[in-house]
Amino acid sequence: MHGPTEGVSEETDEANSAVKIVGGNVFVELDPDHPGFKDEGYRSRRNEIAKIAMEWNDMTMEERRNTKIPHAPYSEDEDAVWAAIMERIAPVHEKYACKQYLDNAKKLGLPNDRIPQLQEVSETLQNMTGFRQEPVGGLVHPKTFHTALANKVFLSTQYIRHSSRPFYTPEPDVVHELVGHTAMLGVPEWAELNILFGEADMRTNSEEAIKRLGTIYWFVLEFGACREQGQVKAVGPGLLSSFGEMEHACASGEVEYRKPNFEEMEIQPYDVTKYQPILYIWDSFEEMYEKTKEFVNNWGTDNDTRKDLHK
Ligand SMILES: [Fe+2]
Repeated sequence: MHGPTEGVSEETDEANSAVKIVGGNVFVELDPDHPGFKDEGYRSRRNEIAKIAMEWNDMTMEERRNTKIPHAPYSEDEDAVWAAIMERIAPVHEKYACKQYLDNAKKLGLPNDRIPQLQEVSETLQNMTGFRQEPVGGLVHPKTFHTALANKVFLSTQYIRHSSRPFYTPEPDVVHELVGHTAMLGVPEWAELNILFGEADMRTNSEEAIKRLGTIYWFVLEFGACREQGQVKAVGPGLLSSFGEMEHACASGEVEYRKPNFEEMEIQPYDVTKYQPILYIWDSFEEMYEKTKEFVNNWGTDNDTRKDLHK
């Protein structure tokens, strides 16, 4: 999922799908302009996949820890969508992904020819940083998303975009989760920042403060970028899971690059439906890690300069 509002992203009102129970059956409601709206086969797979998440949601934490995530049904067309994306994105990663991503993606070794199951990817991730993935039906409230992070759980969608538009998705899908988030969650510093955000959120009560923290998550842990030998490289999964947005962010000349400043960042509006016109660029991955860690560690504590927010 995207940080505060994306893919499994996070704000329910931004999604163009919704999971409902109709006559005792799980039903994914798609907007009429969703590419899969008229495809019955796609819709029935979406319903089946949503059912996995609904049933997962009914389990206790203990049960979740000890249960294997059921396999999602994928069609040959859907495996072909994955393969087409992997082929198209690989050279873009070589050019614009940060070193940490490239090194860890190699270790993660996602298959190129088929959509991997969440369970298998989660097991590999767990061996890397202790993080595991759990299924979720769609966008969830930022509080739910962040609380899971504090427990080293990353909530992930399992469905894939519709095959009629392989390079477009109106909602976060398995490509975003696995190609974007998982490879970064295997990087220890990145995993640590995700946990710290989760813990900071648990110290946060006001909606205003939750929103601000979510906005910082968005600009750093979804759409962060840093310099490597003078070149801007993608760090955030929102960039890393989309070759179009990665090229736009790193090489189009159309993005306003700003020096990271948390006080400004936390109130900066953003639109989840468009390529980001503003990005905060760190001088290095290490700078991003150190400064974000310090900021999030202070959030909601006696050292927090924004004490009013937490009332
Ligand atoms: Fe995301």
